[in-house]
Amino acid sequence: MKIQTVTLETRPKVYALLHRTFPGSDYEAGLVEKLHGNGRALHEWVCIHTNKVIAYIAFSNAYHGNEVCGLHLAPMAVAPDFQRQGVGSELLRFALRQEAIKNQPLFVLGEPGYYSRFGFEPCSMPLCPFDTDNAHFLGMRNSSTDSFVVGYEPEFKPPATPPRPQGKKRRAR
Ligand SMILES: CC(C)(COP(=O)(O)OP(=O)(O)OC[C@H]1O[C@@H](n2cnc3c(N)ncnc32)[C@H](O)[C@@H]1OP(=O)(O)O)[C@@H](O)C(=O)NCCC(=O)NCCS
Repeated sequence: MKIQTVTLETRPKVYALLHRTFPGSDYEAGLVEKLHGNGRALHEWVCIHTNKVIAYIAFSNAYHGNEVCGLHLAPMAVAPDFQRQGVGSELLRFALRQEAIKNQPLFVLGEPGYYSRFGFEPCSMPLCPFDTDNAHFLGMRNSSTDSFVVGYEPEFKPPATPPRPQGKKRRAR
């Protein structure tokens, strides 16, 4: 297995991996495709095994107002048939050693039981706009004391839920 940065050639393989790993959801693949399309600053790596992309990790800017205050780890995915074999841990440990990542405050919205193994700790501030009471929001090297809601790149905004039908439906006669 080798770890490498994402290239134009591997991008479609990343989208396919995200579709496979999050079945029934277009959000993750759509998110990364939009981040690429809009030229956002990303630090991202893939694991290649027998010429296939089997895992992906990305970091994008975290904001305090208009200022960058760290990086968000998202998304991270390991192909279903390679999960629970240490691939995700190897990729994450590799990413955490990289120059662009190793001194930055990091945030992740994920399973505390998983990410705490790598040094992430529960984060009470900043607030994550996609969580309830920061129950699954973790940080590393985060020393924020100000009260604020951390910003994400706009592509992270979940699709709006369809508006509820207003008023009563007329009964067909
Ligand atoms: C979560 C994920 C990235 C972990 O990668 P992985 O390669 O499967 O994990 P590893 O093999 O490195 O680590 C496995 C260990 O993590 C634990 N683990 C895996 N997923 C976990 C989860 N969601 N919650 C808590 N622990 C988890 C396993 O119990 C295992 O522990 P063990 O070694 O004591 O048995 C991968 O399973 C995945 O892509 N899952 C689906 C997508 C997802 O949830 N992505 C993360 C949010 S964006």
